[in-house]
Amino acid sequence: MPSPPLARPAALLPRNCTFTPSDWAALAAFWHPVCFSSDIGGPRPFAATLLDEKLVLYRAGGRVVAAKDICIHRGVPLSFGRVEGEEVVCAYHGFRYGAGGQCVKIPAQPDLAIPKKLCLQTVLAEEKYGVVWVCLAGEPRQPLPSWPELDDPRLMQMKMAAGIWKCSAARHTENFNDLAHLSFVHVGTFGNPDRPEVPRYDVEVGPEGMHFEADYDRHSIEDFGRKGPVEHIHYTYDLTFPFYTRLRICFGRDRNFVAYNLPSPASARETNVLFRLTRDFDLDKPEDSSIALQNQVISEDRPFVEAQRPEELPLDLSEEFHIRADRFSTCYRHALVGFGLGGEFAS
Ligand code: FES
Ligand SMILES: [Fe+2]
Repeated sequence: MPSPPLARPAALLPRNCTFTPSDWAALAAFWHPVCFSSDIGGPRPFAATLLDEKLVLYRAGGRVVAAKDICIHRGVPLSFGRVEGEEVVCAYHGFRYGAGGQCVKIPAQPDLAIPKKLCLQTVLAEEKYGVVWVCLAGEPRQPLPSWPELDDPRLMQMKMAAGIWKCSAARHTENFNDLAHLSFVHVGTFGNPDRPEVPRYDVEVGPEGMHFEADYDRHSIEDFGRKGPVEHIHYTYDLTFPFYTRLRICFGRDRNFVAYNLPSPASARETNVLFRLTRDFDLDKPEDSSIALQNQVISEDRPFVEAQRPEELPLDLSEEFHIRADRFSTCYRHALVGFGLGGEFAS
């Protein structure tokens, strides 16, 4: 008789967890993006890491299955295996798993009645906006972001994987929502060195996210990335806790570019940076130019964000110096504390 799978309490930390136990528990309660829908469907199951938990993802029964990347037979990563139809086949002894992570075949003992309990340790997974979202806790503390434009076929819909950054997701998010760096870090693209002052702005903090708006006189970007004349733009930032920002850049009537920044926390110091992008202009032109420019812009941010120390966002405001322009970040840090982040080492 096979032994039933070992039950592991949901709250048990992943091996070699880089988060404090209390930070891990607080973050595990949120939805996080782990990959694009299009990443799943190849001949191999997809491997991802979220909050130090190694996951395997495949599609079966009309939905994405996300599970801990461990075959319950002998502990080999299931991501070593292959996908056959709606089943994933372990590379070691060929156990097959299907919808819901259920084991459906044991080749070495084909006449064995497979107990229902012989099932991968699955976690919650949803596909929305062409992105696969995972929640490691049994019950997400808030719904997925509401970004209906990402399903709007009238817009140019784009996606972009910007690689694994050596930073915390919170540092990345704070930089993405930071106004004062634009005239310094981005002088190679749109940044306007003659416009360093950040006008006063208000930040609205709600239970599920934050909102603020700001104007900026930036340089336009001409063909081939050349800096063009100064143009007036309006930024609208909408953050969904804990890390996911919709940034709408309005260049004028009917000219909106929107970047959805999805920094997935692989560990406390590594972040898998994904973007969805839309635009409502130049619909007859290829998407490449927007993606190339977005890549160019964030490559200006990257060395700064990766060099920040400590890697973790200091949630105790006395640890860094804050000015009026940092209104977003002081509110953001305060909100993260409210979710239980930055608590001292609970165990
Ligand atoms: S370890 Fe996967 S089938 Fe044996
Ligand atoms: Fe930036």
